[in-house]
Amino acid sequence: MLSENLITANGITSRLKTDGINLSLFESVTSTNTLLKEMAVNGEGEGQVIIALSQTEGRGRYDRKFQSDKGGIYMSILLRPKADTIDTTLLTAAAAVAVSDAIEDASGKNTEIKWVNDILINGKKVCGILCEGGFMGRDSFVVVGIGINACESENGFYDEIKDIAGTVFDNYHPTLCEKLCAAVIDNLFYQYKHLENREFLNTYRQKSMALGQKIHILKQGQIINEGTALEIDDNCHLKVKLNNDETVTLSSGEVSIKL
Ligand code: BTN
Repeated sequence: MLSENLITANGITSRLKTDGINLSLFESVTSTNTLLKEMAVNGEGEGQVIIALSQTEGRGRYDRKFQSDKGGIYMSILLRPKADTIDTTLLTAAAAVAVSDAIEDASGKNTEIKWVNDILINGKKVCGILCEGGFMGRDSFVVVGIGINACESENGFYDEIKDIAGTVFDNYHPTLCEKLCAAVIDNLFYQYKHLENREFLNTYRQKSMALGQKIHILKQGQIINEGTALEIDDNCHLKVKLNNDETVTLSSGEVSIKL
């Protein structure tokens, strides 16, 4: 349950190890990604972070609605990579490792990653990540949007997701949530700065729950094929052996999977 004792911007920034972070905390916004993209277009610099305690128009991948009631942490982080040096698929996967490590540190619970960027505890999704790119003139930017179900909202999860969604904590702990937010930011900047050497890939593969499993391949929510997940390659594409023995390599921009 959500108490009135909420997280504060100072409680997060005082725990940060990364320099150059400018953090704004809001009680409610439409979507932290939408807001930060607007700020990026207007010239906001790398390191701007927006956190909201609820969103009225939270968005997920494939334009799906993302439940964003009080009880969760809704965060967007602005990166301004030098043009042509960033692969957003790799960044998305690195972000999944950053967030899953932060959740494990704050909660003491084991996490798994479902390709490409869902984070699960005991088989239930506790976090989704939506990376969105854009341009300001000739300069590109990336907004990394992270939605964490810290604890359940007063009304519970929507019917559509109640069987697949879970929470990081059983109750709302402001201090642990502040620790979690700071760790997410620190871990994300670490992975971003070390993206080129792909250090995150080992952890990503270890935590990938799909490997060796039978999966359904989905396009726009519809099952288009079935097979067994074989491996994650160095570009974070998923190799799958289809039931007809053909091997395909899936790119996260086109398809998703269901176990
Ligand atoms: C997914 O699971 O499909 C991705 C969900 C991403 C949700 C986060 S919450 C913070 C940021 N703002 C949004 O509107 N979406 C992302």
